[in-house]
Amino acid sequence: MAQDYVASIAFDQRLYRQDIKGSIAHTKMLAKQGIIAESEAEAIIEGLSSIREEIEQGKFQFKTELEDIHMNIEARLFEKIGDVAGKLHTARSRNDQIALDMRLFLKEEIEATITKLKELQSSLLELAKANRAVIMPGYTHLQQAQPVLFAHHLLAYFEMFQRDKEGFHNCLNRTDVLSLGSGALAGVPYPVDREFLAHELGFSKISSNSLDAVSDRDFIIEYEACAAIAMMHLSRLAEEIILWSSTEFGFIEIEQAFMTGSSIMPQKKNPDVAELARGKTGRVYGNLMSILTTMKALPLAYNRDMQEDKEGLFDTVDALHSSLEVFAQMVRTIKVNTKRVREAIKDYILATDLADYLVARGAPFREAHGIVAKLSQYAIDSHKSFHELSLGEYHNFSPLFTEDIYDITLESSVAARNIIGGTSARQVGIALARAKQLMEEKL
Ligand code: ARG
Repeated sequence: MAQDYVASIAFDQRLYRQDIKGSIAHTKMLAKQGIIAESEAEAIIEGLSSIREEIEQGKFQFKTELEDIHMNIEARLFEKIGDVAGKLHTARSRNDQIALDMRLFLKEEIEATITKLKELQSSLLELAKANRAVIMPGYTHLQQAQPVLFAHHLLAYFEMFQRDKEGFHNCLNRTDVLSLGSGALAGVPYPVDREFLAHELGFSKISSNSLDAVSDRDFIIEYEACAAIAMMHLSRLAEEIILWSSTEFGFIEIEQAFMTGSSIMPQKKNPDVAELARGKTGRVYGNLMSILTTMKALPLAYNRDMQEDKEGLFDTVDALHSSLEVFAQMVRTIKVNTKRVREAIKDYILATDLADYLVARGAPFREAHGIVAKLSQYAIDSHKSFHELSLGEYHNFSPLFTEDIYDITLESSVAARNIIGGTSARQVGIALARAKQLMEEKL
């Protein structure tokens, strides 16, 4: 009964590759240092390699009574090569071993995460480029605020995912530390060569405190925190895709493959993919809370509580990766309904530009704001757009208005915002070029 309770093999078998890789490097080091004989090392390494093949071919039988991935592999090694298998665990503990496995695992996954973020960025960039002249309503409070280029809106998400890549890259720095050689908690009484291990396993740093090394899970927490932020970003994009593809907005169409029909309402096409990514954000947040709570107030050094770090991390990696992958594909299929987007823009979205017009003619901004507020209310009450008001009507609100007030258009409004980070076609052109450049760089 307790055996089942303490076993982790059901989920930590995912670490078999890292576990064997670590063991092989450890064995090489033991032989190099004369701690075990060359011939013994050869037998162990051969045995480990064939176990890896067995696992990969689905021939390996994982046993709950052997608790975890380490013991499952070691027990099989005894079966294959006999008593010499007992030398593998010299100068090592499962405590520094599991820390090593998790770090090796996460280093690979971080690279994959960054690649997937980049693919999504590339899809966003393509969609932005294909629609670079489209003007859409920009929103605050989900109320029409000022016109912006659709490409500018998409590039905002590009920026978020750029920050995410940087976050994961920073996390990689913390993950890239060799823990092996820390033993159970105090270090090991053998002349191990940790530099050799670090080099063999591709770590650029070596842990400097054995107690910390076996009990540190910060790199996992950090990955999950970065994942939570990335999913939050993705959920915002998901939300907009859901809104934009609704009948009310009708701004975009998503390819059928990313929608599903309703089992009862034949007319419906639901944006399930976007909804699921929005939904999965919840469990990714949950996993972060869970690992933080597991680690809270744990005394040094290793405690079995820490075995609970795995399922949440695996779940987060899977949720994030699958969401990024499907979004990268889905975004590529988005068709923008340019006509609908244009028709959706209410003329009053130019109110700020009218105020800026008065400012250019000497009115203080606050006063200009007040004048245009009254003018807007008048236009709305008389069911007229700004362009339908006569110059006389404008004059009722300010003598500063002249004929050129009619030159203010969506295009002129967008073009006017020609400062770094602004929405003018020129600035967005620069931003697109920068984004393209970033796609060619590592991060
Ligand atoms: N399965 C364990 C874990 O994931 C491995 C380390 C076990 N160490 C021990 N002293 N029981 O945390």
